[in-house]
Amino acid sequence: MGHTLPEINIKVPAGFLLGAAISAHQVEGNNVDSDWWHWEKQGRVPESGQACDHYNRYSADFQIARDIGLNAMRISIEWARIEPEQGKWDHQAVEHYRQVLKDMKSKGLSRMVTLHHFTLPQWLALKGGFETQDGVEAFARYSWFVAENLGDEIDLWCTINEPEVFSSQGYYKGIWPPFKRNALKLVTVYRNLTKAHIRAYRAIKSAKPQAEVGIVKNNVHYEPYQGNPVNRMACAAADYFGNRWFLDRIRRDTDFIGLNFYFTRVISIDFSGAHVANSPERPKSDMGWQTFPEGIYHALSGLKRYGKPVYVTENGIANARDDMRMDYIRQHIGWALKARAEGLDLRGYYYWSLMDNYEWSDGFGPLFGLVEVDYSTQARKVRPSAAVVKELMNA
Ligand code: BGC
Repeated sequence: MGHTLPEINIKVPAGFLLGAAISAHQVEGNNVDSDWWHWEKQGRVPESGQACDHYNRYSADFQIARDIGLNAMRISIEWARIEPEQGKWDHQAVEHYRQVLKDMKSKGLSRMVTLHHFTLPQWLALKGGFETQDGVEAFARYSWFVAENLGDEIDLWCTINEPEVFSSQGYYKGIWPPFKRNALKLVTVYRNLTKAHIRAYRAIKSAKPQAEVGIVKNNVHYEPYQGNPVNRMACAAADYFGNRWFLDRIRRDTDFIGLNFYFTRVISIDFSGAHVANSPERPKSDMGWQTFPEGIYHALSGLKRYGKPVYVTENGIANARDDMRMDYIRQHIGWALKARAEGLDLRGYYYWSLMDNYEWSDGFGPLFGLVEVDYSTQARKVRPSAAVVKELMNA
């Protein structure tokens, strides 16, 4: 631990995708047919309302992405808009996303698209979502439909965003829809998501054999407290169940791996049990998340065993003062490129997020954006830290 960065003056290599990520429910606004909208109206989670009104302002937002120097974007398509009722496809929504994707292309942005980013159509949630095999089948059908109808406009596909976060928030911690705390359901949903990924992967390929389809996994870097052997074993177990279990199951049915990297956890075991902690001396984001750029190097190095291309599909910081973001990005990219120099086929990095947005159960408080959003006027303002993009691009 504690290596220093090999190079300070970092530039990304030619052909590298340097993008930003957003997800539909967090930015679009008025996602009325989704399970989250339903629970928002029940007061169980904050209301997303108009969010960033990105549904109407996408073109201006992509223009900003381009102006700050990005060459790629990761967006998500909202299942609840495409299939608002079971088996009823909304062709207007399809046309909308076609315009969105064409607009990205016209602005020189490579298009990475996620099919499921935490939200479900409410009709499916009512039937148990991914708790059942029907949910898996429904996801495969929706994926096939998107491939058939929008496949020509998508450069890189992600099936599911963070299966482990989705299952643990919704079925273990019970703080996101459907607010359950049930170990059996947690395991069922997590397993079903491996199936859902595999079925979607094959469905997309059946419609578009050339499509490049991957998964997005939130992997944590686990550090053994004081490096002692018992803590090392605990870290190995956490790494296996948290980071590898899912990927081991889908490895034959994925063209690439997307890594969302936010967390390093220090693990210690003593007589009173296992402790997972943040390291006190490391800087923290506005959400109290510790930052440890070297962690991304370890998380990426752990993906080498799969022998697949890798993208950092998310990495970012809530930092209202904007005084940590620039260095956060430089350092994480620096460490990511070190993993690349050591043989990992790393092809891109997407910062979370292009703009401030609806941060799930935390509402609109945490500010992750390269671009600030004034929610009363929907005005956008580029933050000073966004200058890091051109610096990294050598532009
Ligand atoms: C999710 C995003 C979220 C971000 C910051 C990731 O877990 O994919 O939707 O906004 O982290 O919490």
